[in-house]
Amino acid sequence: MKAPNEQEERAVAAANVREVPFNRTYLTGAESGYLESVLESGMLDGDGPFTAQATALLRKMLGAEAALLTTSCTHALDMTGLLLDLREGDEVILPSFTFPSTANAYALRGAVPVFVDCRPDTLNIDERLVEAAVTERTKAIVVVHYAGIGCEMDAITRIADKHGLAVIEDNAHGLGGSYRGRPLGSIGALATQSFHATKNAHCGEGGALVINQPELLEQAEIIREKGTNRTQYYRGSIEKYHWVGLGSSYLPSELLAAFLTAQLENFDVIQARRIEIWDTYQVRLEEWAAENGVAQPTVPDGCVHPAHLYYLLLPDLENRQAFLRHVVGRGVQATFHYQPLHNAPAGLRHGRTAAGGCPVTERVADQLVRLPLYTGLGADEVGRVIDAVTSYRTGC
Ligand SMILES: Cc1ncc(COP(=O)(O)O)c(C=O)c1O
Repeated sequence: MKAPNEQEERAVAAANVREVPFNRTYLTGAESGYLESVLESGMLDGDGPFTAQATALLRKMLGAEAALLTTSCTHALDMTGLLLDLREGDEVILPSFTFPSTANAYALRGAVPVFVDCRPDTLNIDERLVEAAVTERTKAIVVVHYAGIGCEMDAITRIADKHGLAVIEDNAHGLGGSYRGRPLGSIGALATQSFHATKNAHCGEGGALVINQPELLEQAEIIREKGTNRTQYYRGSIEKYHWVGLGSSYLPSELLAAFLTAQLENFDVIQARRIEIWDTYQVRLEEWAAENGVAQPTVPDGCVHPAHLYYLLLPDLENRQAFLRHVVGRGVQATFHYQPLHNAPAGLRHGRTAAGGCPVTERVADQLVRLPLYTGLGADEVGRVIDAVTSYRTGC
């Protein structure tokens, strides 16, 4: 065998330091065929056969009465703001530890997002703080199942029922997860899904509104179709369609629905690999985490999570930043996550913070890192992530 030349040696060295990206788009292999069939059909607008197929798959996964594909989870959340028929000054309770879309949806309607702190274990809205945040202006409680680990939905539903409030699940992370045997996304009156490229099943940019209270469906269809009853017209139940309410254009093209169908059909394959990676991190980082004062995710009894993301809580901001520099320097693209909403510029302008503030949110936002986790992540790459993580010492 001939000895490698300098150029070959450099190529091998470059391959060895190849970065482990934070996310790599996963393709099941069925996407291009489905996309071609849409192109051949010449019908690229929304609500065609692939939309029906993807919707049926989603409904089956969730056991949901109805679902409508949307162009993003953000848009599905916006639709919930319209469906709640919010008025200026109404209040919506939600966690500060979430993505801005969760709050924008209600602030856009003139309502006040009321920020509640999160639990230190699951990082979900702290259900013990929710009732104290209810006022006579409160209309809804919005929960986010962080990392796809369910919020304490029994307690939250009890508070909502007692005060006549709607429960909305921002289930951007939670497809495939469950709480006490019920799929996440099937518990609130409404739930929203994300099919953004970073999600377990995706179509680049996409989402869905899940409607668990059938009486909301007709209005949701109107909102999604520019405030018209065009969906009923397409079904043949009316002769002409009109502008009947407020709405916008939230329905995705058949191209997105075709891509999403391929992903949802292969959800079991996607999940098997993601769960394997998540479990590997959880087991192989346990000793290092204990020695270094690092917290791993907590999954309460009764919660099944879909391995959407894997996070660690470093002891403090200084360690978090040093940890990120350490692993990124070793070619591992770990990253932080949400910045609190309650003290963000728009949060201060449009929202209100519940009594007691959000000290846990402020702390965990400084401590949290997310590790690469995606279906195409190879075993060798998982090993490199673990090596990079465990070679860091917190000194705690
Ligand atoms: C909790 C939560 N809600 C909503 C969104 C927005 O999702 P999308 O990008 O599909 O609009 C995100 C984004 O990741 C999110 O984390």
